[in-house]
Amino acid sequence: MAKLWGGRFSKATDTLVDDFNSSIRFDARMYAQDILGSQAHAEMLGRQGIIPKADAELIVKTLGEIKADIENNKVEFLIDAEDIHMNVETILISRIGDVGKRLHTGRSRNDQVALDIRMYLREELDTISQMVKELRLVILEIAKKNLSTIMPGYTHLQKAQPITLAHHVMAYYEMFRRDGQRLSDCRKRLNVMPLGSGALAGTTYPLDREFVAEKLGFDGITQNSLDGVSDRDFVCELAFDLSQIMVHISRFSEELILWSSHEFSFVEMDDAYSTGSSIMPQKKNPDVAELARGKSGRVFGSLMGLLTMMKGLPLAYNKDMQEDKEQIFDAVDTVKMVLPVFGKMLSTMRVREDKMLTGAKGGFTNATDVADYLVKKGLPFRDAHAVVGRMVAYCIEKDTVIDALSMEEMKEFSELIAEDIYDEISLTTCVNQRKIIGGPAMETMRQVIEQYEKEEY
Ligand code: ARG
Repeated sequence: MAKLWGGRFSKATDTLVDDFNSSIRFDARMYAQDILGSQAHAEMLGRQGIIPKADAELIVKTLGEIKADIENNKVEFLIDAEDIHMNVETILISRIGDVGKRLHTGRSRNDQVALDIRMYLREELDTISQMVKELRLVILEIAKKNLSTIMPGYTHLQKAQPITLAHHVMAYYEMFRRDGQRLSDCRKRLNVMPLGSGALAGTTYPLDREFVAEKLGFDGITQNSLDGVSDRDFVCELAFDLSQIMVHISRFSEELILWSSHEFSFVEMDDAYSTGSSIMPQKKNPDVAELARGKSGRVFGSLMGLLTMMKGLPLAYNKDMQEDKEQIFDAVDTVKMVLPVFGKMLSTMRVREDKMLTGAKGGFTNATDVADYLVKKGLPFRDAHAVVGRMVAYCIEKDTVIDALSMEEMKEFSELIAEDIYDEISLTTCVNQRKIIGGPAMETMRQVIEQYEKEEY
């Protein structure tokens, strides 16, 4: 097939080069954005009198028909037409001849591809924002049901202090809330219209860039044509935002995997979100959480791939940049696959309140509260710390817990201890006295949840 750019060439491209150079395998998915962008460009060319109005109208109409044909599987894309941009243009010219040849006036594939990728990713970003929001809602529901579900909180994966399941899952809510904010912020820089940048140096035609921007739903237009064609910051930024989402998913998954183990037994995944073993009949594996954790790697890989691809590029467009697509598409596809299934797994998971409570009772999670009790009775904190340290050592020796010591045994450690200690160091008191903003107390958590329920994004 003759190339659209074949004028100055005397030989056909080697078929190996055609295969190597072509991006149609992976950029065909941007066909709708390519066509919408071309329709807006053609309409603008007609309005500005750069091409005859009737030609613009025929181009817009025919592009619409091509879009419908693509959607009805009536179009075959060609490797040697290189990419989605030239495939669509070639089909257009094959249908309306010379009129179709006017479409590319005042435009380059360099600003065209920059436009298409922005439009494509904008849609994906919005979908992912919505998915992150839905995941936050699932978390909110679990939190509301578990305001008084006491569990051990950990540092160094050693039992530390009692918290509630609501408090624990709401920590993830915070992460996914920031993820939502990051995506909206990324959208601001992504949603800027590059057409008019031309190949690199703008164009001499009096294009109405604002008209095209408005028509295509952009918030503004790019201000430097070199940057307009070579900026892929928004692709890297989105890849980072997706990576950060996957970090959160992965950490959460790790906890759920641990919690599903026999040793913890804090939760049990629904049968519909677990898998069995081909050899061990007793097994029920948390594969969904494991795969979610595992898939984080490929998203981080995309981020690294994109940054590395960009780092040495001179201005302006370089063909290297065609490599942005597979990376970001894979990252987007992965996150879109993970978020809904992860949410479903969470919402169907059974919480074992009894096991969580038993877990919180062991490991001296109320030791800090015993020290705080002594502080309230007048002992300096450091001394109180030492007293409780000795009590813990004694309990380990006797294989018991602080709450189970008799008053007589307690008094051996400090004369300040009185009957009220039992109430003061009960797990419920420990949790509910942490009323400070950010703490696990039931009433505090309830307020936070109420506030987040009103939030829009
Ligand atoms: N397929 C190319 C890409 O994805 C489109 C732009 C090509 N421009 C060029 N002058 N070769 O980046």
